[in-house]
Amino acid sequence: MKKILLLGSGELGKEFTISAQRLGCEIIACDSYFNAPAMQVANSSKVFDMLDASKLKNVVIETNPDFIVPEIEAIRTEELLKLEEQGFKVVPSARAVNLTMNRDEIRNRANSLGIRTAKYKYATNIEELMNATKSIGFPCIVKPVMSSSGKGQTKLNGYKDVEKAWVEASRNMRGDRSKVIVEEFITFNSEITLLTVRQKLGQTIFCPPIGHIQSEGDYVESWQPCDINENLLKDAQNISKIITDDLGGYGIFGVEFFVLEEEVIFSELSPRPHDTGMVTMFTQNLNEFDLHLRALLELPIPNILLLRKGYSTVIKALDNIPKNSEYKIEGLEKALLLNNVDIRIFGKSKAWSGRRLGVILSSDKENGLAAKRFINVLKN
Ligand SMILES: Nc1ncnc2c1ncn2[C@@H]1O[C@H](COP(=O)(O)OP(=O)(O)O)[C@@H](O)[C@H]1O
Ligand SMILES: [Mg+2]
Repeated sequence: MKKILLLGSGELGKEFTISAQRLGCEIIACDSYFNAPAMQVANSSKVFDMLDASKLKNVVIETNPDFIVPEIEAIRTEELLKLEEQGFKVVPSARAVNLTMNRDEIRNRANSLGIRTAKYKYATNIEELMNATKSIGFPCIVKPVMSSSGKGQTKLNGYKDVEKAWVEASRNMRGDRSKVIVEEFITFNSEITLLTVRQKLGQTIFCPPIGHIQSEGDYVESWQPCDINENLLKDAQNISKIITDDLGGYGIFGVEFFVLEEEVIFSELSPRPHDTGMVTMFTQNLNEFDLHLRALLELPIPNILLLRKGYSTVIKALDNIPKNSEYKIEGLEKALLLNNVDIRIFGKSKAWSGRRLGVILSSDKENGLAAKRFINVLKN
């Protein structure tokens, strides 16, 4: 029985744990808070600050896992590089996890591989930010180099927005790096996630492309397959192959692209299942969690089959929910009356405005939104 140390126990970790247990693995789920979603289904759990190098190392040494599987970015990844050198297996590789945690490092890497991205500059203080926006032009987007789910991200329309953007980014910076990236704003037609599976026993394979819509940098809905020109999809697959080969290791990668009329532009990548890929729980023979698991265990993946098309939309707490509220989700009995609708409730014990608490999976958008209208998150 393989022992997996899961670093991060959110909703993606929970589904990964379920997939892993179905193939007889033992999962030790870690996070900074007690009873996180994956902990509810894991064999055991550890609560500690994963940004603390010595705590992270101690847990790894103590549990001695066959695989270390990061589920989130906020981890002391430098320590993972050291642990990998000592012989621990980090999924997909410590380098992939380390580079992608830092927007600047993965961006520089993409650049050196000749992959086109939005124009960008970095800044470490407000004066530098002012100059960077001058050279990129408006509108542009400012993001902390370490952050996820759109946290600390601002769209700037002119110099008047620079200060606000710096404050917002500083407030949401993770880790100890006071640095932002300024990106040219790309007016795309659509955006996609290309789930890319690197495996030992076969070629790199791709899930059918997933379309998605983000609001304030956070995922709201996704669908699969999405409509994209064949040649542009080929380009996206080629780019995904180049960058995932460079990062190395075995597992699934969520590679994000902006799709324009005549080109795709690489945006970012996660070396793990992707939130927009939750739709694969509804659509594929093997969902993104099953695929990640099979790839890391070096088990065969003979095919990825789209069984039916699907749509996903998140259930979030709205502004009426104050920080750390006890809450309840109402309306399941009505929403689930609809044909071809399924719902996952993540089991987070506390809610706050904007916190993702569940996801609706359905055959199409109309159906998914009909279900969503019945769902209410209420303060207890
Ligand atoms: N340069 C850009 N031009 C236009 N939209 C962008 C740009 N960068 C980010 N966005 C929007 O913000 C979303 C989140 O940005 P992303 O870089 O993926 O951050 P995160 O790591 O928080 O997901 C993107 O999916 C896209 O909708
Ligand atoms: Mg993203």
